[in-house]
Amino acid sequence: MCGIVGYTGINNATPILLEGLDTLAYRGYDSAGIAVWDGENIVMKKEKGQLSNLKAILEREPVTGCCGIGHTRWATHGEPSYINSHPHGDAKKQLVLVHNGIIENYVRIKSMLMDRGCVFVSDTDTEVVAQLLGDVYNGDPIKAIVEAMKLIEGSFALAILFRDDPHRIYCVCKDSPMVVGFGRDGAHIASDIPAMLSYTRDVTFMGDKQIAVLSPDGIAFYNEFGTPIDKGCSHIDWDLDAAKKGSYEHFMMKEICEEPVAFRKTAEQYVSFREPRLKADCFPWDADNCAELKRIRIIGCGTAYHAGLLGKKYFTELAKIPVEAEIASEFRYSGYTFEEGEALLLVSQSGETADTIAALRMAKQAGVRTIAVCNVIGSTIAREADEVLFTYAGPEIAVAATKSYLTQITVLFLAALRLGEIRGTISGERVKALLSELTSIPEHMQKLIDDREAIQYFASREFSAKHVFFIGRGIDNALSMEAALKLKEVSYIHSDAYAAGELKHGTIALIEEGTLVVGLITQRHLASKTASNLEEVRVRGATVLALTNGSMPDIAGHCNKVWELDEMNELTAPFCAIIPMQLFAYYMAVQKGCNVDKPRNLAKSVTVE
Ligand code: AGP
Repeated sequence: MCGIVGYTGINNATPILLEGLDTLAYRGYDSAGIAVWDGENIVMKKEKGQLSNLKAILEREPVTGCCGIGHTRWATHGEPSYINSHPHGDAKKQLVLVHNGIIENYVRIKSMLMDRGCVFVSDTDTEVVAQLLGDVYNGDPIKAIVEAMKLIEGSFALAILFRDDPHRIYCVCKDSPMVVGFGRDGAHIASDIPAMLSYTRDVTFMGDKQIAVLSPDGIAFYNEFGTPIDKGCSHIDWDLDAAKKGSYEHFMMKEICEEPVAFRKTAEQYVSFREPRLKADCFPWDADNCAELKRIRIIGCGTAYHAGLLGKKYFTELAKIPVEAEIASEFRYSGYTFEEGEALLLVSQSGETADTIAALRMAKQAGVRTIAVCNVIGSTIAREADEVLFTYAGPEIAVAATKSYLTQITVLFLAALRLGEIRGTISGERVKALLSELTSIPEHMQKLIDDREAIQYFASREFSAKHVFFIGRGIDNALSMEAALKLKEVSYIHSDAYAAGELKHGTIALIEEGTLVVGLITQRHLASKTASNLEEVRVRGATVLALTNGSMPDIAGHCNKVWELDEMNELTAPFCAIIPMQLFAYYMAVQKGCNVDKPRNLAKSVTVE
């Protein structure tokens, strides 16, 4: 996904822009560029490939100036190339801009402009926006932006430099996040918070179609009609290191090792462990609004969807309420008709996933209550949902979701527990017992992290696997889906999850000599069933690894290797079980020399369809 930075103030912009782009690099990109006002002209430097290529150009041809914008491009329209990289300008050289998002009607606008004699140089939708702005511009930047927005359809975050007003940066966004902040050295803009944290912690999240004008002495805001508006700011207390790698080789390992703390920080927001009891006012339900609550639908993408699958198990078991978990990109086009008494839970780490936002807006359009489970304050989903249950994982930089998944299933578990408490579907004693179980979870997790060498060793023997299958039943099936996604997205090994009981209905045909099958058995009451499935694949030549909830002696006979969790409650076991799966995926990827934090073709947040 593209990254945008911008700065105007008292210092040279170029190093600030490059530092910001370095911080955003984790989002995935294939080219980069900057544009800086050097006192006479807007100077553009851009290049295909890594940021180091752009830096090499700037070494040879330095650009100095106190106002500039920068961009890392993740290609959507037009192949990764010099000419398609940002910034882009208009033919009359009145402005340059950078863009994150997708202009859905760019073809129509492009032909309209070409009919007016406009000549295009790139294949991008972004250049269409630059040329459109140049076409409507008559000396008033705000007016031009307001006019252009009337024609543009799709998602956009834009940072624009106008030649006539070279010390200011004009920003506007719709369905693509952008944050601005004012620090001691001037005004900053970025696609997300870490890129400006070293300059300011007081940030303002841009609302859809709102315009921000950054100048060296402040930031002014306007609505989509060009009318001045006031906007508050949020103080970000993340420490800078939290967004940096520290002593770890990869962010992914750092973030796995942070899971015990992330779990504790998240749980203690919702649980007073002294008693223990749930903090009732932290949840969106009370006796009144619960009466009309008839069903829940949990929506998300990728890992967030997998967290939703576990959430479905929790709400079913603890709150005895009809619940469905769905993939956002399927749900948004399903033509689903919401029912009376329905609530929509939207799970999203970034709070910017396009499909999940669309599902949220569908529900709001239908007057359905929306509750977000989100990790980023001020993100679109967090701002637009009726209520938010925040996760407290801290910044998650690696593309592969790890601690965010853990904190999502933690919040979903606690929300289901609270709902069950209100609905009377779970006794007070059982609530207390389950909450007490949580206090020991961090140390069980830490033990798994400390003993990770055994997982590294196993991966060193299995990393050449071509196919890996994860199987489980019930909660373990939901866990298997997340385990499979983790492995495939960082190691590029084909891996799939199957309900263990399904093997006999076709999938077992895939088992060959040496095929690696991982059986997840945290649900002790289903252990014997999954054990027979493991035996079925073992006798057909599979290499079998089992992850068990405590010691299960009769499982060992069906496996080549067993990883044992400390024995714990079946409902809280997933909080620990996912860690060996994440570590396994990590080590398989490292063994294969993959780019663990920035896997090919992937972005941290999919803000386009
Ligand atoms: C998971 O490791 C991936 N990074 C991806 O599936 C991710 O979970 C998905 O894109 C949803 O992102 P979100 O949680 O930010 O909405």
